[in-house]
Amino acid sequence: MDTSALKQMAAEAAIAYIRPGMVVGVGTGSTSNLFIDALGKAKIAVEGYVPSSLGTAERLRSLGLPVLDLNSTGDIPVYIDGADEIDPHFRLIKGGGGALTREKIVASAARQFICIADSSKDKPRLGVFPLPVEVLPFARSFVARQLVRLGGSPVLRENFQTDNGNVILDVTGLDLGDPVKMEALINTVPGVIDNGIFAHRKADVVLLGSPQGLISRSAPLA
Ligand code: A5P
Repeated sequence: MDTSALKQMAAEAAIAYIRPGMVVGVGTGSTSNLFIDALGKAKIAVEGYVPSSLGTAERLRSLGLPVLDLNSTGDIPVYIDGADEIDPHFRLIKGGGGALTREKIVASAARQFICIADSSKDKPRLGVFPLPVEVLPFARSFVARQLVRLGGSPVLRENFQTDNGNVILDVTGLDLGDPVKMEALINTVPGVIDNGIFAHRKADVVLLGSPQGLISRSAPLA
């Protein structure tokens, strides 16, 4: 089975978490796009969808699905999004598409975060995928030097601007053995908007499309 069929399997399984009347947070990326397409077909009478990027808002609107502003909703019952890496403790690396800051905000506003992915994203630990860090353009060079001090090798993502008008540094070489600590540490550097470690707000449920079928994992209740 190719990767897109596995992503599709996970995306379609997430539809079961959507109920009429709900406000639903929607992620960004190819797996989230398949989820949006599945929403278009499912036609569930939700209150509306809170998008995590301009691209997601556009795709939702193009299918006639109602888009809500996060500032006009309260807490969101459920957020559905993909990931670049998933560890056994439901912690993630996200931001391959550059939408990590809004994704983390919508995920944090949600009571339940359902992560959808193909099984190649399932890793014993985080840290092979380059960590995306969103940075104010003014601070790009300063932040890059601080990331080197933390052990990383930052590379500016070329010809890319985030929905918030910022740049992305993709960082390899960081020790993500304690992702909770590294997520917080990177965010103490002035000029960093946010980074793609989702360890404080990790997933609650992981749905993986695999060649053996759907794998569903739920985090133990805290
Ligand atoms: C977007 O910024 C990312 O966080 C995506 O959620 C992540 O890169 C997964 O993308 P795919 O679903 O395209 O693999």
